Amino acid sequence: MTRVVGFLIESEYDRGKQNVIQAIKGVKDILPDDMPAWQHLEAVARTIFEEYGFSEIRVPVFEYTDLFARSIGVSTDIVEKEMYTFEDRDGRKITLRPEGTAGVVRAFIEHKMYADASLVKLYYLGPMFRHERPQKGRYRQFYQVGVEALGGTHPHVDIDILVMLHRLFAKLGITGLTLQVNSLGDSQCRDAYRDALKAYLKEKLPTLCADCQRRYETNPLRVLDCKVDAAKFSDSPIMLDHLCGPCKDHFAMVEGGLKKLGIPFVVNPRLVRGLDYYTRTTFELVMDHEGAQNTVAAGGRYDGLVKEIGGPAIPGIGFALGVERAISLMDTSRLKPARPALFIAALGDEAVALVMPVIHALRNDGIRVETDYGGASLKSQMKKADKYGAAFTLIVGEQEMQSRTAVLRNMATKEQVAVSLDNAVEELKTRLSGA
Ligand code: HAM
Repeated sequence: MTRVVGFLIESEYDRGKQNVIQAIKGVKDILPDDMPAWQHLEAVARTIFEEYGFSEIRVPVFEYTDLFARSIGVSTDIVEKEMYTFEDRDGRKITLRPEGTAGVVRAFIEHKMYADASLVKLYYLGPMFRHERPQKGRYRQFYQVGVEALGGTHPHVDIDILVMLHRLFAKLGITGLTLQVNSLGDSQCRDAYRDALKAYLKEKLPTLCADCQRRYETNPLRVLDCKVDAAKFSDSPIMLDHLCGPCKDHFAMVEGGLKKLGIPFVVNPRLVRGLDYYTRTTFELVMDHEGAQNTVAAGGRYDGLVKEIGGPAIPGIGFALGVERAISLMDTSRLKPARPALFIAALGDEAVALVMPVIHALRNDGIRVETDYGGASLKSQMKKADKYGAAFTLIVGEQEMQSRTAVLRNMATKEQVAVSLDNAVEELKTRLSGA
């Protein structure tokens, strides 16, 4: 009889055991050497967001599939082709979040966060999942840092968000990016634009890919975002020519505000986002070189989304940046893992036993101390101290135990001083301060 182990039949399971299991294609380990850059980006983002009055929110990495289908749009590439969707053991359709906005808006509605403030400002960071074709800068699990401001319709909210995005990249030392801005109008003016676009696309219809032929009927705006056909639409009608009065005024105020504050940007009337929830102001921060993965951060206004997923009619705006892409543009040469201030080379079990309380006391005081618990030879321990990059090494061997005096070596200058083992913690604290 065939036995089933998890999802695998037993023979597959046994075969799998012979091989080394590797990470899934398109996902990456973030290793200790990478972490200082990640922690730096996260710390800078948190500081700036909090200065602008945003509070952190953490929402689940999986939600009901319906949430993403309804908010991102059923005819988008993300929902049609890229979501990790499965049935859980209760038979419910679940999706690993492909982006952060939908979950944050769901939480905003579920916890009635709108009851406490007229403008709720939230930020988040964490992994997102999209089954895209992996390549440099495009992963199947990637990280976003994002913000959502829920409640404000005024163009000054848009300006605030864009200034904050600009400051974030300046603080990260990332230059050479262009902020592209566009307006996608609202439900009032979108219909007229849709008609103009359909009239334009009609002629081209037989030459379009199968997806676009279908989307022509269901969601013609999505055709402009097609990965296969996008280049064919360089002379298509643009939304900016079809904006209604209030949308036109809104966009003019955003443009004026950015200029006044000296935030560089260009209007890209062909900027279409890959998600359906956007209205009015939309934007992308792009690298100047050509290439498919050249968008580092992106976002926009979504004035209909809260209502669309069952909440009150509350507008919103936000953005998310791709952490891997942002880090690839940062100068990370000075962001190295912290080095220990002290390495203790204890020779023999007795010496190890003697130094352990010293190590705990120093660590308790915030001093980074490493040791080699096994008591290997002095030579190999000194090598280890070098590898750790310790500023000082304390040598405690048999002779030092007898004389109750250890040798403290400055690893850079090679200078050595004696340290009393009876008062080691206090002496080391003094000598290591600033190491
Ligand atoms: P998005 O444009 O789909 O927008 O993604 C935002 C950023 O996430 C992209 O600019 C890119 O840097 C990064 N990104 C997306 N897909 C991948 C991938 N497969 N691998 C690596 N990085 C990737 C959103 O997700 C919206 N929720 C943004 C938003 C927030 N709009 C309003 N509020």
